Amino acid sequence: MHILITGGAGFIGSHVVRHFLNRYADYTITNLDKLTYAGNLANLSDVEHLPNYRFVKGDITDADFLMRLFAEHHFDGVIHLAAESHVDRSITNPTAFVVTNVLGTVNLLNAARAIWGANLEGKRFYHISTDEVYGSLGSDGMFTEETSYDPHSPYSASKASSDHFVRAWHDTFGLPVVISNCSNNYGSFQFPEKLIPLFINNIIQKKPLPVYGKGENIRDWLWVVDHAHAIDVIYHQGKNGETYNIGGHNEWSNIALIRLLCRIMDTKLGRAVGESEKLVSYVTDRAGHDLRYAIDSSKLQRELGWIPSITFAKGLELTVEWYLGNSEWLSNVTSGSYQHYYEEMYCGR
Ligand code: NAD
Ligand code: DAU
Repeated sequence: MHILITGGAGFIGSHVVRHFLNRYADYTITNLDKLTYAGNLANLSDVEHLPNYRFVKGDITDADFLMRLFAEHHFDGVIHLAAESHVDRSITNPTAFVVTNVLGTVNLLNAARAIWGANLEGKRFYHISTDEVYGSLGSDGMFTEETSYDPHSPYSASKASSDHFVRAWHDTFGLPVVISNCSNNYGSFQFPEKLIPLFINNIIQKKPLPVYGKGENIRDWLWVVDHAHAIDVIYHQGKNGETYNIGGHNEWSNIALIRLLCRIMDTKLGRAVGESEKLVSYVTDRAGHDLRYAIDSSKLQRELGWIPSITFAKGLELTVEWYLGNSEWLSNVTSGSYQHYYEEMYCGR
């Protein structure tokens, strides 16, 4: 079995690559990544020596390159994670999200279709998507696989579009596809532009914690290791043409999560209780900010037997410990262009 994983040097992708390498020593795993600001080969330093691992630096927006890659390697499957993934960046530069997330996905679909041809036995194209395609919930209800798409940000619109193209290649050309839509992930190796690692880094440095709006928006958090396990289960057991929602049944308002994180950080850093929370600073809300996400993952639990493995309290503590123990990783990824990004995104907000 030879699987192409795109975006394998990013946050979730690196956990998926690690999971497959550790669990399936007889598979060859090729990681295709452009190494944008979000991609970092240091995320894979513990597994890069394995004989069944290969890395290819390349861009999914380059259609000719993808055709050559697929022709050369005869992949049995694709797990597609490569994307522009940060909502705030999609507000400042929407076109980059259309190009990578929509065109890049179509290029991959074209390459798989052209090279696999009619020989589809054992083949699988697995597209990794997000719960944000479903839009925003009010105070009750959950997203199911039947919820209509209603994206609001350029990021979620680009992911929704890519999901539609994947389904179109299944319905029109018979490509064996599967899609999953997951809620917010947290854990090690997440780039510190996303809420949890950004706030951990700011607390370490005693910098303000920029809470958007009133901090009342709700997200449903899942440990990234559990997402990687769900991807394994869906890759091997999911049905062609189906969608599976993945989530932790773990809803937190941003401000409640931030208070919990501050308490954990105070303890781990030996600071007085309440010290980190004093850093909270309410700032201008994100444009088009979705109020609430909540995923109903009962289909995945019922049909394929997947459930999350740990509680949020435990997962968050492990995550904090990882960032505190990997200060070199953190300072490497926050040097250079990160400073410029931070000033543009937060100064004067
Ligand atoms: P990330 O930003 O950490 O990583 C994205 C990776 O894609 C990086 O390694 C980057 O270098 C690579 N990449 C970007 N453009 C590329 C291109 N043109 N060609 C090749 N590689 C390219 O993202 P993430 O948070 O790990 O998300 C991975 C996937 O999971 C995305 O598709 C995202 O939409 C989806 N997702 C993320 C979450 C979450 O909470 N982070 C939740 C649900 C779904
Ligand atoms: O739901 C899945 C999605 O989760 C993924 O598809 C995206 O790739 C991923 O980035 C994530 O999107 P969010 O926008 O929910 O995540 P983010 O960490 O950016 O923000 C989480 C919440 O915290 C959101 O309500 C905005 C808020 N926030 C975020 C940042 C970065 C703040 O209040 N302040 C901040 O500085």
